Order: sequence, then structure tokens, then C-alpha cells
Amino acid sequence: MTIPLVVVRGDGVGPEVVDAALAAASPLLDGFELVEARMGLTCYRETGSALPADTLEMLRDGGLALLGAVQTPPNAHYSSPLLRMRRELDLFANLRPVRDLRGGPVDLVVVRENLECLYAGLEGGNEDTALAIRVITRQNCERISRFALELARDRSEDHRKVTCVHKANVLAQTCGLFRDTFTRVSGDYPDVPVDELHADVCAMRMVMDPGSMDVLVTTNMFGDILSDLAAGLVGGLGTVPSGNIGERCAVFEPVHGAAPDIAGKGVANPAAAILSLAMLLEHAGDIDGGRRLSRAVESCVLAGETTPDLGGSLGTDAVARAVLHRLETDTVEG
Ligand code: IPM
Ligand code: MN
Repeated sequence: MTIPLVVVRGDGVGPEVVDAALAAASPLLDGFELVEARMGLTCYRETGSALPADTLEMLRDGGLALLGAVQTPPNAHYSSPLLRMRRELDLFANLRPVRDLRGGPVDLVVVRENLECLYAGLEGGNEDTALAIRVITRQNCERISRFALELARDRSEDHRKVTCVHKANVLAQTCGLFRDTFTRVSGDYPDVPVDELHADVCAMRMVMDPGSMDVLVTTNMFGDILSDLAAGLVGGLGTVPSGNIGERCAVFEPVHGAAPDIAGKGVANPAAAILSLAMLLEHAGDIDGGRRLSRAVESCVLAGETTPDLGGSLGTDAVARAVLHRLETDTVEG
């Protein structure tokens, strides 16, 4: 029996990095049937919808997807289909593991609440005063806290601390609910060390002592900003994957965007897309396959078989071939 793997190539560099990821991981994909779905700006221009109903339907019930990237022009009348997808599919957790594949000390995970906060879509006002409403619910604080604490249990013993990142000193109600819920839920995980940091201090600590951070759990907007900050510590967005994870379905995508300026040139780093596919494999139960694929990406970067952003000189397809080669010649040792 094969499992459907929904492939959403999207805009800009999306199609090329997705194709590279599927090529690099090809020996691991026998159990999957690839099915195409559409989303993004090109889709909007061609069909009138940036996120067609059939794409959502393919994902809604147990779907697993690899998404390339979508381009969102800064236009008040076009809102990101990514945000709508996260909401419609109840993808409450955004999981962003950030590791320095060049061998540095960074090995942290941002666990970002993915549905609410300033992303609730509640903006308004008049010509003099604009407002955005920050929504924080106990239910999502609880789900994201449990998600982070469970995830921490799978990490090695000395990288298991979960840090709750908030600004309850200013946002006593919204961040207060987030922090208090985390503190209560963490009582169910006595084996997981926890602490808390204000978001501003956390940003500084990430820059000055990034090796001290393990799992960061935070609200949507802080998580968005801190995950890009973390990417900056490891050479940029080229290697940072992510998973948008719900109780029923999950969509994996590189943290980087569509990068229209380099699209079609064959120079985009496919590592983030390949690692996103590795996360998808692990999520689907192929823990060994996912880890082997991640290791292959890592060995390539260490050997300089990478794109210029990480000091190499390869193009997108050459990186995919190098990863495939390492995957095929990798001797399995734990
Ligand atoms: C991300 C992106 C999105 C976000 C944008 C494109 C809407 O920056 O996935 O981090 O802010 O969540
Ligand atoms: Mn972002």
C-alpha cells in the first residue's frame, strides 16, 4: 500500500527545490505515491484562487505535504495562502529545527504557535489609528506546550531544556496566559527541564550563546522573528526546514520564501527543502530514512558539496545529486 505524498511546488524557487528534494530522497520514497496540488501566486493568477479547495481537501484528512514556497506580494487585497492553509487545516504547531550543518554549536528547535497571536487576522482602525488584536487561547497554549515538551523528550539528555519565550512583563494577559499554561502543563513532564526568557533577552542570548538554547516554545509572532534570527546563526535560510503540524495532517516546507530574484537560475540551496522532506519522512514513521537523509545533507555541507551561501560552488541539482550519492553510499551505523 502506498501513502499519498502531496507535492505543492508553489512559486519562485519552490519548484526547483522541491524537485531537488524528491530527487535526492528518491530511494526513500518507494512507499509513497506523489500527487500534485497547487497553491500560491501563480496558481492565483491562473485559477483565481491562491489556495484552491481541492488542495485543502487533499490535505484535510490525514494529508502529508511537501511545499516549496509561495510568493506573497505586499498587497492589502492579497493575503498569504500559507496563513489560510495553517488555519483551515488547524496546523497548530510550527516546528523549526535549526542546526549548524557547518559544524557549529547551534542545535535548537523553535516551536512556534502557528494559528493565533497577531496572526489572527483581526486588524482594523481608521486613517489615524490602526489596530491589531492579539489572540491567545488556553487551548492553543496547552497544545503547543505539550507539543514542545513531548518533542524535548526525543532529544539527547543534555539538549532537552524547554524555554518558554514570552513578554509577560508587558503583555500580562496574553503572554501571561501563555506562560502560566506552559508552567502548568510542564508539571506533567518532570523529566524535562524548563525555564523561561523574555523574548528580547532570548534574542540576545541566541546571538551571544546560541549553544545554550535547546527547545524554544513561543507565540506566533515571536516565533516568526526568532526563527529567522536562529537561521542567521547558521548561515542563513538555506538549511532551515519546517513542519506545520496538526492533529490530522502536516505540511513541511523550507523556512525560506520564493526568492523570485534567483528563481529559475538553478542556484537556490535545496538543503532546506531536502531537510523538510526528511522531517516529513520521520513524521510518517520512517525515522531511519529521515535521519539518513538529514545525515546525507549534513555530510555534503561539511564536505563543501553545497551552494555558495554555505561556502560551496554547486548549483541546486548538483547538491541534490551529491546528497543522493551520500544517501546511497551511507553505511548504516545508528
Ligand atoms: C514564515 C513566513 C510567513 C509567516 C509569511 C510568509 C506569512 O514568514 O512562514 O515564517 O510570517 O508566518
Ligand atoms: Mn517568517
